[in-house]
Amino acid sequence: MEVIIKAENLVKVYRSEGDEVVALKGVNLELTAGEFSLLMGASGSGKSTLLHILGTLDRPTEGRVLYRGRDLFALPEGELAKFRNRKVGFVFQFHYLINELTLLENVMAPLLVGGFPRDEAAVRAEEVLKRVGLGHRLSHRPFEVSGGEKQRTAVARALVTEPEVVLADEPTGNLDSQTARSVVELMRELNRELGTTFLIATHNSELESFADKVYFIKDGVIL
Ligand SMILES: Nc1ncnc2c1ncn2[C@@H]1O[C@H](COP(=O)(O)OP(=O)(O)O)[C@@H](O)[C@H]1O
Ligand SMILES: [Mg+2]
Repeated sequence: MEVIIKAENLVKVYRSEGDEVVALKGVNLELTAGEFSLLMGASGSGKSTLLHILGTLDRPTEGRVLYRGRDLFALPEGELAKFRNRKVGFVFQFHYLINELTLLENVMAPLLVGGFPRDEAAVRAEEVLKRVGLGHRLSHRPFEVSGGEKQRTAVARALVTEPEVVLADEPTGNLDSQTARSVVELMRELNRELGTTFLIATHNSELESFADKVYFIKDGVIL
């Protein structure tokens, strides 16, 4: 099986006014193309820090992230931004949908950023929204739909660019347990259909049954 993302000895130190927090203490991790895995650990264990670094939203203090063997943080900023837009999809606990835009426009946004023509972006975004069961909500705005529908929209937005990897940071943290299950089930189905690699940070152990692998993180170390 092909390794898609390899983290080597990731250390992350947050420094502020003489204070230091070592959030990651030498994390090694290999994600195989197409795997659907969970990252589990208590609050403050380093899950968000690790996902942000794997997705190149933040830089490690030490260590490397290899993407299909390419050292990401050695790339110039422009190349890194392109990588982030094309290859990685993000889903967060707070959906970060834009309230002024319709669901369709929210899902189109990453394509427009990536330089797609508007009409083509609209067609693609509609397809993906239909796939996540929201074909009847295209012109609704985020505040007009339920929490589960907002997270389905966030999943659609993450997938619309056909990324190779989706990193999800407590995507079900604000949902009741049945809705949480249905959102993770949806991600699992999309993983099987599209072959997209998923890494999902959660502390909901009910979700373990969906995963190929579960990584446990404690105090900045993968156990
Ligand atoms: N921007 C930051 N500045 C300082 N400390 C931070 C920052 N972000 C996270 N931390 C600290 O790093 C540790 C890991 O945090 P985080 O990665 O958010 O954990 P988790 O997502 O598992 O709750 C915690 O001790 C947290 O307080
Ligand atoms: Mg977190």
